Amino acid sequence: MTPTEPPPRIPFVDLAAQSRRLRPEIDRRIAGVLDHGRYVMGPEVDELEAELGRWGGGVSAVAVSSGSDALLIALLALGVGGGGNRRDAVFVPTFTFTATAEVVLLAGAVPVFVDVREEDFLIDLESLDREYEAVLAAGVATPKAVIPVDLFGLPVAEEPLAEWAAARKLDVISDAAQSFGGQRDGRPVGSLAPITTTSFYPAKPLGCYGDGGAVLCLEPATAEVVRSVREHGQSADRYDIVRLGVNGRLDSLQAAVLLAKLTVFEQELAARRAVAAGYGERLRAVGSSAATPWRVSVPECGAGPGSSVESSWAQYTLRVDDAAGRPSAGTRDALRAHLDAAGIPTAVYYPRPMHLQPAYESYGRGAGSLPVGESLADRVVSLPMHPYLDQGALDRICERIANA
Ligand SMILES: Cc1ncc(COP(=O)(O)O)c(C=O)c1O
Repeated sequence: MTPTEPPPRIPFVDLAAQSRRLRPEIDRRIAGVLDHGRYVMGPEVDELEAELGRWGGGVSAVAVSSGSDALLIALLALGVGGGGNRRDAVFVPTFTFTATAEVVLLAGAVPVFVDVREEDFLIDLESLDREYEAVLAAGVATPKAVIPVDLFGLPVAEEPLAEWAAARKLDVISDAAQSFGGQRDGRPVGSLAPITTTSFYPAKPLGCYGDGGAVLCLEPATAEVVRSVREHGQSADRYDIVRLGVNGRLDSLQAAVLLAKLTVFEQELAARRAVAAGYGERLRAVGSSAATPWRVSVPECGAGPGSSVESSWAQYTLRVDDAAGRPSAGTRDALRAHLDAAGIPTAVYYPRPMHLQPAYESYGRGAGSLPVGESLADRVVSLPMHPYLDQGALDRICERIANA
């Protein structure tokens, strides 16, 4: 590099570094599939399910075609939907990826949007309770399930939510698309709810080379129903269709890639935690610095006394306010431009909450109804985050944020 050349662009997610590290094992695994030729439901899928079950703390895992299909399959397996005069209501946080809301409608139920908490982006139990009472009062749909989302990798505190849901006889499906590998109080994601769904989209903490996902069930009997829904609602006899299902299978090749990646997953999670800790140390100081036109708030895990929580750090997401600490969408965008000019990519997850999306707005109450999610959509920015982000890149990103 000559002195005038700009430094190289930092990758937002560095799948190339990971594939360089794992290439021999991935090649070996893929060759194994080509050798036996069982491309659908081959032995790698069984092996992967056993591994995922272990990672989930001894649960029953069913590998499926994507994180979105995992959610749809879970809803169908629980019988959530509608038909005739019946319409189930499913509570979902408004600040999430579209799949969480979309599957509710695909299953024939109605989504009810719930606000999230400013400090950790997770579902707000008070808002959930208000929305639940409103659904009961309206009397149009029957509350049936809630889908908390472990946004950016942080597992939702399961106990208060489980108690709230049990008292109202609602099912809980944990959308852990972003949090596989995380844990609460030593209990891994997968064991924190009766049904947990996850995604193996390539950029996820555990990603394959295409689409993939899994449903993890505490009860083996639930997993059996999930398996049936995954394959067209078949019973043990494949031409005996006992319920409505989908084609939601995971390819053997994707399972092979995931088995190779699982060999380093623990190390990669530790590396993500180290990156997050590095960001936290450096950026907390910028929080209230007078030298920048922005104030940034770093994500906190927020475990209470006597409890512990570990994010899988799918994303490292800041809240950005103006120099006086006031919300300001323009400030977030100015910070993004400032980083981009220095070869530092950022992303906004998510720029619009679900209750304001054209496809779903008729199920919500419009702008101003879920103020925290609306405000976060204007103020969040995610920084490069992956296990191969080195100290040099971390310093470069943090120094750029600290020096406007
Ligand atoms: C919270 C959440 N739910 C569901 C999904 C859907 O997963 P997939 O892309 O594998 O269908 C995603 C994917 O980004 C997600 O972030």
